[in-house]
Amino acid sequence: MSDLHIVILAAGKGTRMYSQRPKVLHEIGGKAMLAHVIDTAQSLNPAQVCVVIGHGKEQVLAQVARDDVVWVEQTEQLGTGHALKMALPHLPAHGRTLVLYGDVPLTDAATLQQLLDAAADEVGLLTDVLDNPTGYGRIIRQDGRVVAIVEEKDADAAQKTVREINTGMLVLPNRCLSGWLEQLSSNNAQGEYYLTDLIALANTDNVAVHPVQVARSYLAAGVNNKQQLAELETVYQQQRAHSLLSAGVTLLHPASLSVRGQVEHGQDVLIDMGVVLEGRVVLGDGVRIGAHCVIHNAVIGAGTDIAPFSHLQDCSIGANAKIGPYARLRPQAQLGDEVHIGNFVEVKNTVMGRGSKANHLTYLGDADIGSGSNIGAGTITANYDGVNKYRTVIGDEVRIGSNTVLVAPVVVGNRATTGAGSTITKNCPENQLTLSRSRQTSLAGWVRPEKPKK
Ligand code: UD1
Ligand code: CA
Repeated sequence: MSDLHIVILAAGKGTRMYSQRPKVLHEIGGKAMLAHVIDTAQSLNPAQVCVVIGHGKEQVLAQVARDDVVWVEQTEQLGTGHALKMALPHLPAHGRTLVLYGDVPLTDAATLQQLLDAAADEVGLLTDVLDNPTGYGRIIRQDGRVVAIVEEKDADAAQKTVREINTGMLVLPNRCLSGWLEQLSSNNAQGEYYLTDLIALANTDNVAVHPVQVARSYLAAGVNNKQQLAELETVYQQQRAHSLLSAGVTLLHPASLSVRGQVEHGQDVLIDMGVVLEGRVVLGDGVRIGAHCVIHNAVIGAGTDIAPFSHLQDCSIGANAKIGPYARLRPQAQLGDEVHIGNFVEVKNTVMGRGSKANHLTYLGDADIGSGSNIGAGTITANYDGVNKYRTVIGDEVRIGSNTVLVAPVVVGNRATTGAGSTITKNCPENQLTLSRSRQTSLAGWVRPEKPKK
């Protein structure tokens, strides 16, 4: 069993986000910042992860619904030291505790492991050196040793010139925790219980403080406003693009790709500019995603082309299919190999067999379509009577004429054809042509009305 306990502080309000949502629920790469921090924490295989929540706790519990952490409430936000104290009843007297922050989303496990290794059973402190340290707690050293942290608001002019700052993340020996937390006072500029005062207390008790500087600032960067959220989103997306490129995916414009989930891919996948991938997206060998497509939970077979401006959600597509431009695939569209879906075609809860095509201006909802069938331009499955939905069943090698309305429930047999402009309300037999439109007539004796000449 690991002797590592992790406490994530996430009770703050995030006033400068100007939002109804608690700060830690704002997302990086489509995932709440707090969820990023919990995942990183869990990757260290700790004995336990506690999350201290306060502001908007109902929203936090609803959105980050996880049972792999212990939720601890801090009803009043009296400071970071007070927040850690709330978790004290859940921490054993032995082992050590790593403190993380719900609004510092991009810390990686390697950095934290470095901190844990440096600290051993003493105190470890994650630091950074900034050109502009304004706002941060400053690291105060004597003879090279870290002896205290002074908050910006409590710092004198000399201390404010220090560029070495406290990232907030630290690891503490549990044997010292309750004693130190008891000694904290709120006698400071902000009237808060500062976690950072533990550094001076460690010095008093002759427990060494081991500083570890982050390799890059983003690893410890916190989010206080939308500007900082956007900056970390950019860093995160650069990392996602980098890992796709490293794995052989061609990105024509890496800076405009947005990955908000998990991407699995084969070889020779190409993604054009402005693409959004959300949820779980699986791209087979040779899949090409055209510019400005949004793809949310989709499995796309090898060799399939998704042309520009297509929107795909909760669907699956076989191999060598052609989708778009301007296609809309909605939940439970299940398209077979070599299916073609063209511009302004919407497909929902519909199965299409191999090689079937709907190339223009069509709505296919709640339908089962066999293989090799062609759905003419402007076809509509009228699947909804205002109360219930019904299925349209279309066989193999069917030809549905242009501008056909298929009023479900209805079955069109194999190799049947429907005439253009038909409203089909009854089943269409196999091999036959079914028409339901009035016969075209021409009136030979008809005279077009003319305006009288002046
Ligand atoms: C803190 C550090 C500062 C460091 C900075 C890094 C202290 C006293 N100061 O300052 O040295 O440079 O972070 O960003 O620790 N929180 C609670 N409950 C509270 C107060 C805060 O859960 O009562 C949480 C917040 O949600 C946030 C984190 O703790 O995630 C930091 O709190 P914040 O008020 O932003 O601390 P800073 O003043 O930025
Ligand atoms: Ca802060």
